[in-house]
Parts: sequence; C-alpha cells; structure tokens
Amino acid sequence: MTVTIALPGPQAKTEADIDPSLDLIAEIDRLRREKNAVILAHYYQDGEIQDLADFVGDSLDLSRKAAATDADVIVFCGVRFMGEVAKILSPGRTVLIPDADAGCSLEDSCQAADFRAFRDSHPDHLAVTYINCSAEVKALSDVIVTSSNAETIVNQLPAGRPILFAPDRHLGAFIAKKTGRDLTLWPGSCIIHEQFSEKELVKLKVRHPNAKVAAHPECPEAILAHADHVGSTRSLLDYVLASPDREFIIATEPHIIHQMQKAAPDKLFIPTPGADGSCSCSNCPFMAKNTLEKIYLALVNNGPRIEIDEELRVQALAPLEKMLSWSASVPMSNSPGR
Ligand code: 13P
Repeated sequence: MTVTIALPGPQAKTEADIDPSLDLIAEIDRLRREKNAVILAHYYQDGEIQDLADFVGDSLDLSRKAAATDADVIVFCGVRFMGEVAKILSPGRTVLIPDADAGCSLEDSCQAADFRAFRDSHPDHLAVTYINCSAEVKALSDVIVTSSNAETIVNQLPAGRPILFAPDRHLGAFIAKKTGRDLTLWPGSCIIHEQFSEKELVKLKVRHPNAKVAAHPECPEAILAHADHVGSTRSLLDYVLASPDREFIIATEPHIIHQMQKAAPDKLFIPTPGADGSCSCSNCPFMAKNTLEKIYLALVNNGPRIEIDEELRVQALAPLEKMLSWSASVPMSNSPGR
C-alpha cells in the first residue's frame, strides 16, 4: 500500500536539452492548452511560478480546486503531499509535480508506523491530522485539517471525546487554545516556522512601531504572542489587504509577500528574520525545488507523476472528504493567479 512517484524514463528530456533561448513561460502555456492542464501553486512558490499558475492558494483552497477541476492534468506546484492530496481527490486526473524530492519536514516527522503506535496507545482518542503528512498517515486518521479550517473542524467533534493532533505541535497548541479542547500533541514542527526568532521580531517591532504582525499558526507560541492576526497564508493575505494599516511584519514563509505586494504596492511588508537576523533561512527549501524548467519538463515528460495504490487512496480519501464537507462554511478565496 504505497504512493509511487513515476519518474520520466531514460528517453525523457532533461534540463540540458532545454534551448536557453526558449521562452519557457510561452512553452508552458502552449503545453498547458495542448494537454488540457491546470497549474495550481501554493503561496510559498517563487513569484514567477505564482504568476503563471491558473490558481494560487492555501492548502484548503488548493485541495478544493484539485477536487473540482475538469482538467485532464493537474500540475501541482507545492510540495509532494499536496500533489498526493490532488491525486486522492481526483484519481481520474494525471497529477504531475515538478520535483519528486519536494518533501515537507512535518511529513518527515510523522512516519506511518510511529503514528499507528501513537493511535494504538490512545484507543479512545479521535485523530485529527494536519494535511502536511503522508497519504499513509492520512489513511490512519479520522479527519484531516488545514490551518484555515482546523478550528472549525475541531469545534464539530463530539464534546468530551479526547483528541490526538498531529504532526504540528504549534498549530495543535494554537487550536487547543482557540477551541478550549484538550489536544494530545504529536511533537512535530515546520523547520521554517520553528526558526523564527522572538528577539529579532521584537527588534523589528521597535524599528517599525506602527507595523502589525501577521503570523501563521505553525509559528511557536512565543511568536504568536506578538501577532495581531494569526491565520493560514490565505487568511494573512486577506488580513493585510483589508486592514487600514500600512506596515506589516509577516511571520511565515516569505513568498506569500509576492501576492501581498502585488495587491497592495503602497504597503510595506517585512519578512520575519530567523535567529541569525537574516531572512534567507526562512525560505522553504522544499518549495524552492520547483522551477520553471521543471514545470516545463514535467509537462513534456508526463512526470514526475503521482500514482497511489487504490486501497490506500480510498482509506486516505475518507478523512479528506470529511475535511471538505465539515469546512464547507470556510469561504473560498478570490483566486489570484492568471
Ligand atoms: P496553509 O497553506 O494552510 O496556509 O499552510 C501552509 C503550509 O503549511 C504549507 O505547507
């Protein structure tokens, strides 16, 4: 019972075959039309990828788009688990990912065998699992959540029923606080959000006394304590655009600032530094694996392509479908993108 990434064969084109004079954006566009493909991108992708995508969104909205698309091919520009979710929800579509090695530190922190043991040692608990996990872990879960619907979903669980929350302990602690529910947390975290420095954030606040702080709930509590708004990437974007304030400190992966700056060019968006005072370590190394060249090659080579064993897909589908129906009240964003 596994997920396989079907890699292009030995005859496939490689980056070395790409003519440097090729207009990659025009070629991707041509291939997208020829193959009836849709390009979905997460807000953590490079700006040039966000700009060519048909839809840019957070994990919930991207899942909804993947479930509803009538395209034959989905090119998922994000990390691998997002492509897996697209294939689980839309098994009849070909799902391509630009780079087979675009993983996720949260997913890595929660291996299926360990998660099964965690469940087995808490037999009375419901398992609420963050979407940043493998298909195998999803299949062992009762319901999947994202950062934009976790509160809504936990609030719908039967009162008094104990709950396990995996794999992000910071999101779990935040949701426990918001809902008043007692969550038993898996000890995982995102390498990017974990490294934000409270000391550096406070220094920034002193330098920008009028700036509001917008933070993702994957941040540690010490960072969230300084936030004026906490929410998913989509929610952070909505917040800074709706706010009458002009300056914002953004505590999440900084590529979300691309959409903020595009929609509000006269506002100032400041990325939160890591402990070394610089912002370079805040870029997600997994998201950064995707490039225009790899998107082009994925369309040309029909791979890397996600394939999921049907038994596993059906087991992982149940908690994902529960997620989509229990969060129907969370509105869809107005799509940025082309
Ligand atoms: P959202 O997409 O829910 O904002 O979460 C960000 C994330 O963890 C991407 O991996």
